[in-house]
Amino acid sequence: MCGIVGYIGGQPAAPFLVEGLTRLEYRGYDSAGIAVLSRDAKAKEKTTAVRTVGRVRELEAALPKRLAGRVGIGHTRWATHGPAAERNAHPHRSADGRISVVHNGIIDNAASLRAALEDAGVEFASDTDTEVVAHLVARSEADSLEAAVLEALGRVSGTYALAVMDERHPDRIVVARSGSPLIIGVGDKEMFIASDAAALVRHTDRAVHLDDGELATVTATGFHTFDQYANATERTPVQLAVAVEDLELSGHEHYMSKEMREQPEAAETVLRGRLDERFATARLDGLMLDPRELRSFRRVKILGCGSAYYVGQMGAQMIEDLARIPADAEAASEFRYRQPIIETDTLYVVVSQSGETADTAFAVNEIRRKGGRVVGLVNVVGSTIAREVDGGIYLHAGPEIAVASTKALTNMGLAFGLLALHLGRLRDLSHADGLRILRGLERIPGQIREVFESEERIREVAGRIAGAQSAFYIGRVRGFPVAREGAQKFKEISYVHAEAYQTSELKHGPLALITPEMPTIAVIPDDELAERNIAAAEQVLARKGPLVAVSHPGVDLARLGVETITVPKNEPELDPILLTIPTQLLAYHAAVALGHDVDKPRNLAKSVTVE
Ligand code: AGP
Repeated sequence: MCGIVGYIGGQPAAPFLVEGLTRLEYRGYDSAGIAVLSRDAKAKEKTTAVRTVGRVRELEAALPKRLAGRVGIGHTRWATHGPAAERNAHPHRSADGRISVVHNGIIDNAASLRAALEDAGVEFASDTDTEVVAHLVARSEADSLEAAVLEALGRVSGTYALAVMDERHPDRIVVARSGSPLIIGVGDKEMFIASDAAALVRHTDRAVHLDDGELATVTATGFHTFDQYANATERTPVQLAVAVEDLELSGHEHYMSKEMREQPEAAETVLRGRLDERFATARLDGLMLDPRELRSFRRVKILGCGSAYYVGQMGAQMIEDLARIPADAEAASEFRYRQPIIETDTLYVVVSQSGETADTAFAVNEIRRKGGRVVGLVNVVGSTIAREVDGGIYLHAGPEIAVASTKALTNMGLAFGLLALHLGRLRDLSHADGLRILRGLERIPGQIREVFESEERIREVAGRIAGAQSAFYIGRVRGFPVAREGAQKFKEISYVHAEAYQTSELKHGPLALITPEMPTIAVIPDDELAERNIAAAEQVLARKGPLVAVSHPGVDLARLGVETITVPKNEPELDPILLTIPTQLLAYHAAVALGHDVDKPRNLAKSVTVE
């Protein structure tokens, strides 16, 4: 959601701004804009700003042919305050046009600031919260742009990453971060600004991630960082972890298909260096918790949103199975609103691919504010959540561009496997069982490859269910989070309504919906519940409901003539990770069959940075 880019240097700014915004398209947006400073005939700096609703290519088409300025800022907007309209697209400008601002995040007190500014005679040109910042900076009487920005931000509460450009100070862009990421890319006599490393990687691999509460002056030859009291801070550029090829389609039709296929390597990476054969455990130094502390926890509470929440449910079951610690998962988006009781003997685990999901970040704040210990399972290194937790396990899945998460979710499952193994071996899990799980984890990358051997058949099945109005995904105990995630993926990209239900609950109501038009995808692992799951499948078949089973080779479904997609059997505790893979493929091929924009499904964003 929302993206920021900026350029200052010896080259025309517009090409970088447009290319950078294109790189940020995957995050989700509904309008885009840039502002570039150039000299006019009277050798005065003037701003050219262009904003359009729709895709970045429409913005590019609307740009004037000659746009040679070497300083500029750009933005992709996801509507929050006010509809997607040109007037609401960023950059926002002061009434005299001198100040231009791009902003990610939400200014909480925008309404009262707006009212005060209107009372003072300011006319607003948009419905946005951001515009107040442009006016506040322009109205400041401070003698530098930095001081004016500090003064304006002193009146603002909320979250922001922002970049400010001033016609009076054409040699600089001032940027600030509070609760929303901002990165300065260091080039050779040119500097870049972005809210996401994806916009930078074609230009530089050296960057500075601003800390919360930090600001910076960025010029063509360098940067100077400072805090909210204008005291200088010390920042050294680091190597960016993302490579250009990670962000390219590399011959694949969609990012989702590329990312699904990257799962075996991604899985190897999250396990690398973390399996300790000698003690049959997992090495998780990043948790920053010693064995004594880890033993003292009497409960585990997992928090995430959407698919991350469903994988959290898989993780809770793994922890209960292997470590015998009561564990449960909850939607992070609900957590802080129900006055949660934070216990010091509970280990809180937040899980997020992007590390920027606002609801999850708020949950982290709530836990920390009340003195709880929270660790994170996060994919994006240096992201907001990764910085705010007490420790964690990086997922190392590599950049994920498709809105529908796949490889990051699989690595979340594996990271939970590692965590459960680690916690288990600190308690009662035997060496033999520890080794059994460790070997199971090691087998997963190869077994994911095996699932892809069935892709063609899964594609055929997907083609058949794509035309349905609605579908059920059913599973129980370890299979239920698999069903929830399967239904979620199906909804997200095929736009077909899909509902996950506990198989055991079907007969208590939803069975009434089973007709020949209502397909059911049943998760039936080879475990102690297999016979009960088969009995439920028979109830669906008896009502002429089309049924597809996602199962293991050992489960005898042939006698029922059920269409079955099998995945290799692993250890029962880890099976949900592999059982999820066919549900990704089902959703993907259904969406392709229906002709949808697989990577950018309607109404959805990759990082949900607003509540
Ligand atoms: C997954 O396919 C979805 N796009 C969505 O549910 C996602 O998992 C959720 O928004 C949480 O995102 P996060 O992992 O970046 O926190």
